[in-house]
Amino acid sequence: MESKGNGRFSLSRCMRSGDTVHASVVVTLLLVIWCAQALEVSVGKVPFVEAMNGSTVLLPCTYSSCIGIKNLNFNWHYNNNGSMMKLCKGVIPIEGVEPRVQVFHERIEFVGSSKDSNISILLFNVTFEDEGEYTCFAKNPKEKDRNHSAIFTLFVVDELKVVDNTVTVIILSVVGGVIGLVIVVMVIKTVVLFILKKSAEKKGQGELCSDRCGCGLLLPGPTHPHWHHAILLQETLQKMQEKGVITER
Ligand SMILES: *[C@@H]1O[C@H](CO)[C@@H](O)[C@H](O)[C@H]1NC(C)=O
Ligand SMILES: *[C@@H]1O[C@H](CO)[C@@H](O)[C@H](O)[C@H]1NC(C)=O
Ligand SMILES: *[C@@H]1O[C@H](CO)[C@@H](O)[C@H](O)[C@H]1NC(C)=O
Ligand SMILES: *[C@@H]1O[C@H](CO)[C@@H](O)[C@H](O)[C@H]1NC(C)=O
Ligand SMILES: *[C@@H]1O[C@H](CO)[C@@H](O)[C@H](O)[C@H]1NC(C)=O
Repeated sequence: MESKGNGRFSLSRCMRSGDTVHASVVVTLLLVIWCAQALEVSVGKVPFVEAMNGSTVLLPCTYSSCIGIKNLNFNWHYNNNGSMMKLCKGVIPIEGVEPRVQVFHERIEFVGSSKDSNISILLFNVTFEDEGEYTCFAKNPKEKDRNHSAIFTLFVVDELKVVDNTVTVIILSVVGGVIGLVIVVMVIKTVVLFILKKSAEKKGQGELCSDRCGCGLLLPGPTHPHWHHAILLQETLQKMQEKGVITER
């Protein structure tokens, strides 16, 4: 009896340690999958922007790394009709330390911060020639200098399409207004119907059936087919009462 119990105990302990091994394998696998892209470079969910000539535009870029960074090299390139033009470059020695940045373009300023893993740049006084692809590039020596990059596209326009927006806003407000009006009308209708029904019920039970004229008649409610006749009868009785033809009990 006791030995059986011991056997069961050791078996369950064995299974438990097996579970632990499984769990650690799963966790390791998850970590491996998660860290497959140790360094990631992103220009955000919308990888393009439309800017007006003469304006200043932000070229966004951020990085993230789950194994940490050391001497992260980054740079920005402009794809000038096939040939890559270097705009700036920098090195982030370690997380949280601001980078040393060299800029090779007179209208560009580095505005990133390693506190936010942000390596964005600003482009001032945009011209039509600035239109095109801007590549944000980074490599982390910690992971055998693998290259990571993301492309941000700049479109330069003469005027932002304000008119189109206005039309959209007008259409949307009209549609919204109509829908709102329909809802208001429906609500009013429902309320009015409800009040009418309530008052009709009141009349039906409270007045018609209360035998107010005291003539011993219990009259039918508004749903009764002869309700109108009943009302007529009641009114006639009331008139007769007023004229003194019949007297109230
Ligand atoms: C943008 O370009 C148009 C056409 O070339 C020009 O008339 C306008 O002055 C420019 N705007 C700015 C702010 O540079
Ligand atoms: C861009 O390159 C193509 C050929 O690759 C050439 O025909 C075109 O003129 C170039 N455009 C500019 C603006 O340099
Ligand atoms: C942008 O243009 C304005 C006016 O033309 C000028 O004063 C300013 O210095 C320019 N900025 C850059 C960074 O070139
Ligand atoms: C990066 O920094 C710039 C300048 O401070 C800021 O405008 C931008 O929103 C930042 N981007 C992100 C993704 O935090
Ligand atoms: C990374 O890019 C640089 C050019 O910027 C290139 O010389 C190098 O070979 C690339 N490395 C890898 C591993 O692709």
